[in-house]
Amino acid sequence: MERSVLITRLVPDPAPEMLRAAADRFTMNPADRPLEPAELIRSVPGHSAVLCQLTDRIDRSVLEAARGCRLIANMAVGFNNIDVEAATELGILVTNTPGVLTEATADLTWALILAVARRVVEGDAVMRAEAFPGWGPLYMLGAEVSGSTLGLVGPGRIATAVARRAVGFGMRLLYHGRRPNPELDTLGARLVELDELLAESDFVSLHVPLTDQTHHLIDATRLARMKPTAYLINTARGPVVDESALVEALRAGRIAGAGLDVYEREPKMADGLADCPNTVLLPHLGSATRKTRGAMAAMAAENILALWRGQKPPNLVNPDAWSPEHEGRV
Ligand code: GLV
Repeated sequence: MERSVLITRLVPDPAPEMLRAAADRFTMNPADRPLEPAELIRSVPGHSAVLCQLTDRIDRSVLEAARGCRLIANMAVGFNNIDVEAATELGILVTNTPGVLTEATADLTWALILAVARRVVEGDAVMRAEAFPGWGPLYMLGAEVSGSTLGLVGPGRIATAVARRAVGFGMRLLYHGRRPNPELDTLGARLVELDELLAESDFVSLHVPLTDQTHHLIDATRLARMKPTAYLINTARGPVVDESALVEALRAGRIAGAGLDVYEREPKMADGLADCPNTVLLPHLGSATRKTRGAMAAMAAENILALWRGQKPPNLVNPDAWSPEHEGRV
């Protein structure tokens, strides 16, 4: 196998050097922008590995065009941008970057919880507009975070890291998932049905991957189950929430507010969302620290280097596509 890699977009150090040093052929899109779909299709053939981003749609047409490709290394923990079924069928391995972004994403989840509950962004805007009328006993009241109930939808690593932080805020913890997570149980979290979590939580925080099963998991019906005083936090994937239904719920005061980092049709937002004052809206920054992004790129590169060494890449999401044949090709 030729050690040839395409990096679809500029990524942080040290990943480019790790790959350049080991590659027979190294190609990196020098621009800090995603490749257009047509450019992607034109660029992928002939590379044994592609290091891509969650903004690259790696569908069947891209995979079929990727002649000679053995590995798609996604620089993200979520991999809903890749048609993994088609990749597996075509014998192409897919890897992601679990673990390294857990703490940064949990930190940002907490930034949203605190910001939306305590009206941090609204308050900042008041000061910048020189519109602060002076302290008042009824002025800009928000919701108490300490001692409230946090409902975590999804029982995985990021939910657990969010729960660890919640212990410091003395929160009651609920979580929903297909199976218990002993670490969450140890933190005092209680596994409940989704409807119970929605009805009981003051903050509902989403930590599920985007799949056919989780698409619009939070729709108008589920939003209606939340308390009118509750907040929805989403640092997972936009399409887990029916964003138009969310705008309706916010406008009608059916929930108190939302803290969002991800959107259904990123980078766009649903009509009306930006006009809802009870929201904090971030541009998909969950993993956006220098340390974490560097670690994510390095992890994607490590997967490619493992393949080139004839080893099973450590973060395979489709282990069924691995066969000794791959080792034989190296
Ligand atoms: C970020 O959204 C990721 O999935 O890594």
